Amino acid sequence: ASAAAAAVSRLTRWADDFPVAGVRFADLTPVFAEATGFAAVVDALAEIGPDADVIAGIDARGFLLGGGVANARGCGLLAVRKGGKLPPPVLSREYDLEYGTARLELPADGLDLRGRRVLIIDDVLATGGTLAAAAELVIAAGATVVATAVVLELSFLGGRGKVAEASGMAPLTALLQL
Ligand code: PRP
Repeated sequence: ASAAAAAVSRLTRWADDFPVAGVRFADLTPVFAEATGFAAVVDALAEIGPDADVIAGIDARGFLLGGGVANARGCGLLAVRKGGKLPPPVLSREYDLEYGTARLELPADGLDLRGRRVLIIDDVLATGGTLAAAAELVIAAGATVVATAVVLELSFLGGRGKVAEASGMAPLTALLQL
């Protein structure tokens, strides 16, 4: 994880007042664009326990990570979509962002997640609303959240508690905490 943390420290692109005034946005695009950065991050996430059957990646940057991790671990890959992208019926959770509200969705039919052990992955943990909503959806679908993981945790925003509560106190790993 230290190679991943070093890459994230070195390559993250910070933007002040984006997407709204007062928010400092962590853009991991340059971390993923560098071969050693992407490999370090995916390798570190692939080692997070406990065993899982399914890796859930959150729209949109969690998809990039989830795909790599699912392939490395031999797991299924579950895309947790932003609202309005999936045909009905869907399971849906609205959540608060630092800026406004948003919605995450999963298919409500044609997908049996009952009893599945799911590791949920995203790029950044800020206020925790996104990851908490994803955990609630996975649980609503009948699965268990065995762990959650992010590349970068902005711990001063205090999102960790919200995620723990929503996920049934699943362990949350951050490759780098700021
Ligand atoms: C960012 C980031 C996380 C979320 C974290 O996504 O990729 O998913 O914010 O914030 P939170 O912990 O306060 O919920 P964003 O909402 O910008 O959406 P995008 O991936 O569609 O750009």
